[in-house]
Amino acid sequence: MTDDYCSPGAEERAQIIRRLLDAQPSVSPTYFYDRTGSRLFEVIAVLDEYYPTATEHAILRRHAADIAAAAGPRAVLAEPGAGSCEKVRHLLPAIAPERYVALDVSAEFLESALQSLRRDFPHIAMTAAAADISLPLPPLPAGRRLWFYPGSSIGNFSPEQARSLLSEWRAHGGDDCALLIGIDLVKDTALLDAAYNDALGVTAAFNLNLLRHLNRLIGSDFRPQQWEHVAFYNAAAARIEMHLRAREALAVRWDSPPGSGLADGRRFAAGDLLHTENSYKYSLQGADALLRSAGFDDVRVWTDERGWFGVFLASAG
Ligand SMILES: C[S@@+](CC[C@H](N)C(=O)[O-])C[C@H]1O[C@@H](n2cnc3c(N)ncnc32)[C@H](O)[C@@H]1O
Repeated sequence: MTDDYCSPGAEERAQIIRRLLDAQPSVSPTYFYDRTGSRLFEVIAVLDEYYPTATEHAILRRHAADIAAAAGPRAVLAEPGAGSCEKVRHLLPAIAPERYVALDVSAEFLESALQSLRRDFPHIAMTAAAADISLPLPPLPAGRRLWFYPGSSIGNFSPEQARSLLSEWRAHGGDDCALLIGIDLVKDTALLDAAYNDALGVTAAFNLNLLRHLNRLIGSDFRPQQWEHVAFYNAAAARIEMHLRAREALAVRWDSPPGSGLADGRRFAAGDLLHTENSYKYSLQGADALLRSAGFDDVRVWTDERGWFGVFLASAG
């Protein structure tokens, strides 16, 4: 769990440190989301440059009735990585689920988001569950499962990891489950680059805040001012890459778990990169193939007029 006052176990700390010690150091993007990170993402979501959120909201608003008709009523609507729970607001009146279950690693932020949702939809039963979706999921309430995974969060996983994650949800949900998922589509590089390099520097702050979160998680002494935000579209890999680049030669120390045999720090040369996120973009055909390869079938898609973003509904085949 990644709330501000939560301290991870020795194995999780060792995993974080192993990746920092790698020849190409990286950090899981999950660690963006401490309390500050979750709030910064809310600001990113309303920036002019960050088209995915507004575009997906518009698709959901416009097609809620069609989506609900295709998805069917009285499902257990389960949203992994629900964050602010804003997008589900478009669906709740039309879908009328038996229950809404929101899962997120940022547990405290999720609970306050759900409180506001409960006030607005008092007749719908709701549960918040603190869960890391990269680990086996906790048992969920019985009923026909409709997974809801908006925000193109699936893009944070490599295509192989994405297939494996969605296959697990398919297996966890059983033969009558379905998946409603938002996926960002390949588009003009300038639009993609701008979305992750906003003029106000909020994405840069979001990226740099990761270092403060790491300092609490592993007792490190990263100094954000020694790093700068870097984001660009890697067309060959069809992904946005976010990194932090060392502005100068520097050394970082941390507390390795006793007995782990891991070094207590490392040096970075000026210009060295710390890879913090990938955001894979898909073609319509590529997204369709991903869903089918994970065991889903009967794929329908709703997009915006510009073809920037797709909301896909697929049933267990
Ligand atoms: C990009 S935000 C998207 C939020 C929301 N679904 C949306 O579409 O606006 C990603 C969300 O996933 C959560 N998250 C990231 N890694 C996670 C993990 N491993 N397990 C559970 N939640 C995670 C974050 O806390 C954050 O709320």
